[in-house]
Amino acid sequence: MKIVALVGSIRRSSYNRKLAAFVQQHYAGQLDVTILDLGALPYYDQDIELEAPAVVQEFKQAVLAADGVLFVTPEYNHSIPGVLGNAIDWLSRVERPLTGKPVMILGATMGPLGTVRAQGHLRQILDSPGVAARVLPGNEFLLGMVQNKIDAAGNITDDQSVAWLDHCVQDYLEFAQQLAPND
Ligand SMILES: Cc1cc2nc3c(=O)[nH]c(=O)nc-3n(C[C@H](O)[C@H](O)[C@H](O)COP(=O)(O)O)c2cc1C
Repeated sequence: MKIVALVGSIRRSSYNRKLAAFVQQHYAGQLDVTILDLGALPYYDQDIELEAPAVVQEFKQAVLAADGVLFVTPEYNHSIPGVLGNAIDWLSRVERPLTGKPVMILGATMGPLGTVRAQGHLRQILDSPGVAARVLPGNEFLLGMVQNKIDAAGNITDDQSVAWLDHCVQDYLEFAQQLAPND
């Protein structure tokens, strides 16, 4: 299954990027994950949305061509980071490549609550009419205190978290299969 990952942090040592890279490697047999660069996108601007810059068009094309989308995000001030909101704004206008797409949300924070508030907001945003993505129900992958749970090589060292991630990924695969158009 071809997946694009949208990571809500563009800092070099981002834990969320490490989490996306962990998923990319750990589930390579089931998910073919490409991590997209949200830092390359300009600010969304309605004045240019009909003739968006090439980098935006390529980004939207990559999302359109994917079978599913993985959001991996920190929590900023109890919500989603601006870089992620900006990417979603581009994806919600003109061609809308998230519409109907199976989505899974993961998040890591250095705080104890592991992005629970950001994920709640993200679910609301993804349910808006301009986006209308299909978000995996019943599963929240929250990696709180992430600084103690990912090692220098990018491995998740907390067995319980890996077991729950395995469960979420299996649920996601079934969910996406149910949504996939019949061959
Ligand atoms: C602007 C800003 C706001 C933040 N707000 C929250 C927050 O609301 N809740 C939380 O748990 N952590 C918050 N943090 C801490 C992040 O969890 C921490 O910086 C985390 O490592 C960011 O993810 P990253 O490593 O992928 O960049 C905030 C960090 C920044 C820079």
